[in-house]
Amino acid sequence: MTGGGSGIGRAATLIFARSGMDVVIADIDEVKARGVAEEAAQIGAGALALRVDVSDEESVRSAMQQTEVRFGRLDVLVNSAGVDFHKELADIPVEDWRRVMDINVTGTFLCMKHAKRLMLLNKYGRMICLGSSSGIYGMGWPAYSAAKAAINGLALSAARELALQGITVNVVAPGPTETPLSLDLWANNPGRRQRLESSVPVGRVAKPEEIGAAIAYLASEEAGFVTGSILVIDGGLTSLMRQQTPAPAPAPAS
Ligand SMILES: NC(=O)c1ccc[n+]([C@@H]2O[C@H](COP(=O)([O-])OP(=O)(O)OC[C@H]3O[C@@H](n4cnc5c(N)ncnc54)[C@H](O)[C@@H]3O)[C@@H](O)[C@H]2O)c1
Repeated sequence: MTGGGSGIGRAATLIFARSGMDVVIADIDEVKARGVAEEAAQIGAGALALRVDVSDEESVRSAMQQTEVRFGRLDVLVNSAGVDFHKELADIPVEDWRRVMDINVTGTFLCMKHAKRLMLLNKYGRMICLGSSSGIYGMGWPAYSAAKAAINGLALSAARELALQGITVNVVAPGPTETPLSLDLWANNPGRRQRLESSVPVGRVAKPEEIGAAIAYLASEEAGFVTGSILVIDGGLTSLMRQQTPAPAPAPAS
């Protein structure tokens, strides 16, 4: 579980632990990773906390090796490590653009690349990538939306590549979810949370556990026929809002 130290990654890790799975919490924040590993261990899971920077190939390679040494196999990869960036097009410094791409896109790619080798040993695997409704409908900020759209392309082509190898690849695309990532954003934008809640058809934001439950389904053996899917979980925000968008006015008769 990359990004397992917080938010959606933490919630999914604890659901995995409750279902009897052993878990690896791979996060750049080692203190948070250790905290979640302790929570998982208290539930009874085998738990390994690793400090990993997903944008660094050596760090990812080392994490996969340590996983193999400790547990002997890798059945599930969840790419939950991610960062947001809140600036409009003309205000995005290229270094920040690259950082958002490095962590969200290159990080997801590197973890999938190195997980593939381990999963092929058993011809079994479940890869789940965290996208976002922003990556489908462009509802977020440009750098973040572009990164999440790239994850969709990466996951769908990998799903095709791995379909006959017993490895499924899917994307979970949440809408606004109450995690430290979004709480930071909402704290800096008074009223944003209320505006979001009033625009979501179900009238609220998601709890991390609701996204974690979908991840757990896609990680299960029962989901072996689900691959190349993008599961949007956003309280109807994007699909129902699109239906309410007024049709463009007809062009005036010439
Ligand atoms: N919260 C939302 O509203 C929301 C909506 C749609 C998609 N998502 C996506 O879900 C995923 C999880 O988001 P969250 O809300 O739980 O965020 P979060 O900030 O609570 O957790 C993200 C975790 O990723 C870790 N991380 C950051 N950079 C890393 C790196 N280079 N290497 C390893 N770990 C790193 C952080 O330390 C943190 O523990 C992200 O990919 C995010 O884009 C979140």
